[in-house]
Amino acid sequence: MDKLLIAGGARLSGEVSISGAKNAALPILCAALLTAEPVTFTNVPQLKDIATLLHLLADMGVKVERNADTVTLHAAEISNPVASYELVKTMRAAILVLGPLVARCGETKVSLPGGCAIGARPVDQHIKGLQAMGAEVSVEHGYVLAKSPRLKGVRLFTDMVTVTGTENLMMAACLAEGVTVIENAAREPEVVDLANCLVAMGAQISGAGTDVIRIKGVDHLHGTTHRIMPDRIETGTYLCAAAVTGGDVRLVDTSSAYLDAVIDKLMDAGCDIVSERHAIHIKAPAKLKAVSLRTSPYPAFPTDMQAQFMALNCVAEGSAIIRETIFENRYMHAVELQRLGADIKIDGNTAFVTGVAKLQGATVMATDLRASASLVIAGLVAEGETIVDRIYHLDRGYEKLEEKLAALGARVRRMN
Ligand code: EPZ
Repeated sequence: MDKLLIAGGARLSGEVSISGAKNAALPILCAALLTAEPVTFTNVPQLKDIATLLHLLADMGVKVERNADTVTLHAAEISNPVASYELVKTMRAAILVLGPLVARCGETKVSLPGGCAIGARPVDQHIKGLQAMGAEVSVEHGYVLAKSPRLKGVRLFTDMVTVTGTENLMMAACLAEGVTVIENAAREPEVVDLANCLVAMGAQISGAGTDVIRIKGVDHLHGTTHRIMPDRIETGTYLCAAAVTGGDVRLVDTSSAYLDAVIDKLMDAGCDIVSERHAIHIKAPAKLKAVSLRTSPYPAFPTDMQAQFMALNCVAEGSAIIRETIFENRYMHAVELQRLGADIKIDGNTAFVTGVAKLQGATVMATDLRASASLVIAGLVAEGETIVDRIYHLDRGYEKLEEKLAALGARVRRMN
């Protein structure tokens, strides 16, 4: 099992290029199932989760061509509209094939994703929405069985804001008969990127990015070429890494457009941040100020940046209160950070963090994608050597992480 070995103390400086967004690419690749024509995607990040999804699509009969960050999918025939447990258990976002397969093939069998380290992650809203659109949906032996000769446009209301729930239902609605209105829709930029791709394929969608999305069903969609948006969470992660090391880093091929809440917190912590059209330049002070935060759906502070900011608060001046309101178990990184000497107290969904003068390097274990990122950030400033174990979690969501960090001056290397 691969590990990362980090020698703390290096100040990050220089330039780093941000990759395409994992959480935009995953639903957008699934959108190719909605048309019999080839669809080409550029700026697709080279990540484990993407490889897993392409493997799943190929198993369904989709022709997959890949050349570096360009992927062409051709779902002329979907001979096997099934997503098996073996694949879905390693990558729960595979649930995103559910909506497209019901809409395109009229029936499908998709394994329930099951939970993961950060929570139960149910998909009841995905199922409820498809049922409201007329699909016959049952859950048998751990699989969602869904069928419908043709979905009907209806008014849908999700009980809570759900990103992939909104994405699944929006994709299903593209080929439904009539108009679907999704209320309480997720406003995340990745939902907007998916909507833009679907519209380029001939879908009729308005309101993406607001909490009411309107989709007028059409008979079929056609091919297109779509560039995946930059990864705002990878961007935020490198901003935090620069911040904790007192760094001076320019992030390119990205934008601050979707990170207002994160950039506000970094400025409150004492960082200077200059936003350019396709870049962000951050200069950090020798000592950061602690910043409290509360995670909420976009455009508020993203839950996917909570772990990284916990690491930042571990070495900042003062105390911070962190409230995680999206997932019920997203503090797995706290016990690992405590192994590095962090002062963190957890009480339910609230974490109380008091900055310490220095963290000490130790061996720690990654438990989920963003928890792993927070351990790497802590290792960059810990005294001595930190070994982060089980970094396959990192490989799911961060492209060439150690190369990018080393190019910024970090003393990091992979060992197996
Ligand atoms: C997406 O997950 C992201 N993944 C997550 O990123 C992100 O943390 C999350 O949205 C919140 O922003 C992808 O886009 C592939 P939700 P998703 O449905 O869609 C509950 C990362 O690190 N819920 O918005 O699965 C759910 O349990 C990953 O890149 C239901 O109860 O999250 C959670 O408490 C981690 N029933 C809340 O809603 C449902 O049917 C929000 O979940 C759906 C969701």
